[in-house]
Amino acid sequence: MPTYAITGASGQLGRLAVHELLARGVPVADVVAVVRTPSRAADLADRGVQVREADYASPRALGAALDGVDQLLLISSSEAGQRVAHHTNVIQAAKTAGTTRIAYTSILNADNTINPLAGEHQETEQALRAAGVPFTLLRNDWYTENYADQLGQYLEDGEILGAAGRGRISAATRQDYAAAAAAALLQDDDGNRTYELGGPAFDLPELARVISAVTGTPVTYTDLSVDDYAARLIQTGLDDASARFVAALDASIANGDLQTTSRDLEQLLGHPVTPLVDAVRAACG
Ligand SMILES: NC(=O)c1ccc[n+]([C@@H]2O[C@H](COP(=O)([O-])OP(=O)(O)OC[C@H]3O[C@@H](n4cnc5c(N)ncnc54)[C@H](OP(=O)(O)O)[C@@H]3O)[C@@H](O)[C@H]2O)c1
Repeated sequence: MPTYAITGASGQLGRLAVHELLARGVPVADVVAVVRTPSRAADLADRGVQVREADYASPRALGAALDGVDQLLLISSSEAGQRVAHHTNVIQAAKTAGTTRIAYTSILNADNTINPLAGEHQETEQALRAAGVPFTLLRNDWYTENYADQLGQYLEDGEILGAAGRGRISAATRQDYAAAAAAALLQDDDGNRTYELGGPAFDLPELARVISAVTGTPVTYTDLSVDDYAARLIQTGLDDASARFVAALDASIANGDLQTTSRDLEQLLGHPVTPLVDAVRAACG
C-alpha cells in the first residue's frame, strides 16, 4: 500500500483530510501527519497515525518527515509572505524522497485573478511544474467558515460590511474540501490535474438573507467602496495594511475571482456540495 502524508495536519483542513483518508479505507499505519507541533496532533497519534515533526522552514526536518512517502497532500502554509519558501522546501523534500504525486491546496481561478493572496499560490504552482513531480492542483475557493465564523458579530451588528458588491462566492466548507482532497489523492491518476473547487455561488446580500432566515435576526449587507471599507476596518482596530488587504480581498470578489461554475468539487465528493444554509445552521450550534 502507498504511504500518504498530509502537511499542516494539526490544522483544521489537514486534520479533516487525515480523517477522510482513514474513512476511505487507507490503513492508519500508511498515513503520515506532518506537523510543526506534535502536541497539537496527539489525537491523530492516539488513532495510530504516524506523526512526524517538521517545520515548513526546515528542509532537513522535511526530508526526514517525507521519507518513504508516496502521495503527499501539501496544505498551504498559513504564514503569508513565507509561503513560497515553505512550499518550495516541501516540494524539494518530496522530490528527493521519491514522492510520486503532490496534491497542493491552491486558490480558485489562480490563472486569472486579482486576489492579493494569489501570487504565492501562482509561484507555488510554478515550483510544482518545475519540480517535475506529478501534481494535482486543488484550487480551493473561500471556506464558508470565513463567514460562518463571524456569525456572532453579524448578529450583534445586524449588518455585514464589505466591498464585494454583487460579486459571487462559490464557497464551500472545509469538510467538503478535505473530502475532495482525499478523493483526489486516492484517484488512480498520474497526470497533472487541476481542479477548480467551489460550491453553489452566493453574494453577500444573499448571505445576509440566509443568516436572517436561519436565525430570525435581521441582518443586512452594506456595500462600501474599497477605501471606505478599509477605513471602517481601521476604525474597528485593524492596522492600516491589514485593513487594505481585507478590503482588497473583497475587491477581488467584486471582480468575480471567487466564482466558478466548475462541478469539480461535487464530482470529487460524489454528492452535492454542502449548501450555504446548512453551513449557517451548523454555525448556530
Ligand atoms: N480558502 C480559504 O478560505 C482559506 C482560509 C484560510 C486559510 N486558507 C489556507 O488554507 C490553509 C489550511 O487552512 P486551515 O483552515 O487548516 O488553517 P489552520 O487551521 O490555521 O492550519 C494551518 C496549519 O499550518 C501549519 N503551519 C503553519 N505554519 C507552519 C510552519 N512554518 N511549518 C509547518 N506547519 C505550519 C499549522 O501548524 P500549527 O498547528 O503548529 O500552528 C497548522 O497545522 C491555510 O494554511 C491557508 O494557507 C484558506
